[in-house]
Amino acid sequence: MPRICDYEGSHYRTEFWEGHNRRYEDGVERVAIQNLLPRHGQRLIEIGAGFGRLADLYAGYRQVVLVDYARTQLEEAQRYLGQQNKFIYVVADIYQLPFVDSFFDTLTMVRVMHHLADVPTALREVQRILAPEGNALIEYASKFHLKALARWVLRQQNWNPFDRAPLEFVELNFDFHPTWMRQQFAAAALSIQETRTLSHYRLDFLKRHIPLAWLIKLDSWAQPTGNWWQLAPSVLLKAKAIKPICSFPTGIFCCPTCRSTKFYLTERPTIADQLFICHDCQQGWAFRDGIYDFKTAIALH
Ligand SMILES: C[S@@+](CC[C@H](N)C(=O)[O-])C[C@H]1O[C@@H](n2cnc3c(N)ncnc32)[C@H](O)[C@@H]1O
Repeated sequence: MPRICDYEGSHYRTEFWEGHNRRYEDGVERVAIQNLLPRHGQRLIEIGAGFGRLADLYAGYRQVVLVDYARTQLEEAQRYLGQQNKFIYVVADIYQLPFVDSFFDTLTMVRVMHHLADVPTALREVQRILAPEGNALIEYASKFHLKALARWVLRQQNWNPFDRAPLEFVELNFDFHPTWMRQQFAAAALSIQETRTLSHYRLDFLKRHIPLAWLIKLDSWAQPTGNWWQLAPSVLLKAKAIKPICSFPTGIFCCPTCRSTKFYLTERPTIADQLFICHDCQQGWAFRDGIYDFKTAIALH
């Protein structure tokens, strides 16, 4: 299995966002998502949702599934978002998603791609769970941006931004070349409709001297240029899943190990509120304190 960047137990919300002068980054991501996300829909899934920072953008969706590999991130999301029936919390790995084929009409994934060691497998899973013509909004960190180009020209950086291979600059932190990323989307039958570049003005000097609202506005004007060139450190792609029309799935979950859709339920109050047992491979998956856990299989005997 690919290596995974595990956020279990991390304090991502307070150690990265709150009090760390990142309102500009948060603001420009929100503008881009609001512009590309269909306003209304039935079933939206966010992969790598963390503490639910962006979940308020999904108000027009009937059902919202927040997935993360780290259970503690979803526990934080439960506290952050409060009691709202529309959210379903699922611990799962993007490489083995526990959802039936073609279930979701919309998918979002922001600040997750840069942790993925196996992008082709992740995109195949994304495409599999999207309905035909379903929309994916996926952000990735680019290696081909103005600062990297300038540093390379001035010989202050030893890696070449023109090289299309992914760059792992710190363990499990990757920057990607836009051309390479487009190839991966095409290979996964995800047809790119729109490209937005984000965070054009991510410079401490500008963040200090230009009012936040102006900087976000300036970035929002620059974002659509992503359809023609990509020279910013972050890129958001909107893509459609290309697949044959299929019958509408009824259940939501499948077994992440064997893909069976047949489960039976047992009560095991000492372990979980409920255990879902896969009828075919007999692995057990827990539902505990409002969170489905499809990461840790529970031995039945
Ligand atoms: C940088 S945080 C971004 C959180 C959120 N998307 C945001 O923008 O605020 C990355 C998240 O991706 C999750 N993640 C990393 N690898 C994953 C995987 N293989 N499957 C599911 N989630 C994963 C981490 O647990 C973490 O919560």
